[in-house]
Amino acid sequence: MQTRILQIDEQSLETSKQLILTGSPVAFPTETVYGLGANAFDTEAVERIFEIKGRPSDNPLIVHVHKDYDIGSLVSYIPEYAEKLAVEFLPGPLTMVYKSRNKVSPAVSCGLDTLAVRVPSHEGAQRFLKYVSLPIAAPSANLSKHVSPVTAEHVYADLNGKIEVILDGGKCCGGIESTVLDCTGEIPVVLRSGLITREMIAATVGDCAEYAFKEGETARSPGMKYKHYSPNCQTEMYAFEERDKAVGLYKEKNSQGVNAFIMCDESTAKLINVEKTLILGKTEREVAANLYYKLREGEKKAQLIIAIAPQKQDGIMAGVMNRLAKACKKV
Ligand code: TXA
Ligand code: MG
Repeated sequence: MQTRILQIDEQSLETSKQLILTGSPVAFPTETVYGLGANAFDTEAVERIFEIKGRPSDNPLIVHVHKDYDIGSLVSYIPEYAEKLAVEFLPGPLTMVYKSRNKVSPAVSCGLDTLAVRVPSHEGAQRFLKYVSLPIAAPSANLSKHVSPVTAEHVYADLNGKIEVILDGGKCCGGIESTVLDCTGEIPVVLRSGLITREMIAATVGDCAEYAFKEGETARSPGMKYKHYSPNCQTEMYAFEERDKAVGLYKEKNSQGVNAFIMCDESTAKLINVEKTLILGKTEREVAANLYYKLREGEKKAQLIIAIAPQKQDGIMAGVMNRLAKACKKV
């Protein structure tokens, strides 16, 4: 199978719809990362996604719906705080986990009694969801454990020959995956940090907790226990305070003939002043938007990426740090 990258228009949407209706997954853009979508009611199609990605069978998927879709038809209870959050942040990079009505295939949630629902804001995603007029189960459109894709070319690099069509919506502006929020309890709990921060949620509904996964526990969001987001080259990470050590390693490795690059934000790059850098950007938004893009660029040209963590680690940077730490985790 030769995978085609198609601009989003009437014809490619029709092709995509036919593929979705016949059980073939289609990759599509969102404002966070590209997704690999299948009809959430079709168990075989959902199982195909796990196969294509090599995804562990206990890591549940998010269902993506059009902004006018009746989410109440899929989930059994929507607390008042979740309604407020939906008004404030949807469509957008916030996934909400509810008690499921068990209408979609059980393969979507891997047997859990909850369902994660997301209303993406990307115009191309909305057009696709409206055209197919179905809830679409979709993980990020990368091979399992690899860096999430933020361009159609990234998806192609991982999935060429495994899917028919990639809908091309340009580079994703968000750059890290959506915030996953558990909305089954008294107060919302962040299961995965993202661009909608715990602070923003708490400011809207008064309270918001953050779930910290501990080794050995049953994860509330199974995805948290897996190694993720890793580029296909060696990686090391240093705290901002340890940047001199990072520069020392960079010099040592390059003098030994190892092609090492430093990944950091723009202000850190000015401080350390080395030649081979992967600069993430200036603002928090830029850093998040470029993280996966630069990790994928880095794996192409470097043998070793030495990341220097951002100095600030709250808000959006909590999400960036979480991904950077996982990308650099040696397992
Ligand atoms: O931004 C995003 O969320 C992207 C785009 C494509 O929408 N999707 C994405 O999907 O990142 P994926 O499969 O890579 O990550 C889904 C995360 C996993 O950590 C998974 O464990 C969690 O959502 N999740 C899904 N269903 C859940 C559930 N019922 N309860 C708790 N966590 C759930
Ligand atoms: Mg993923």
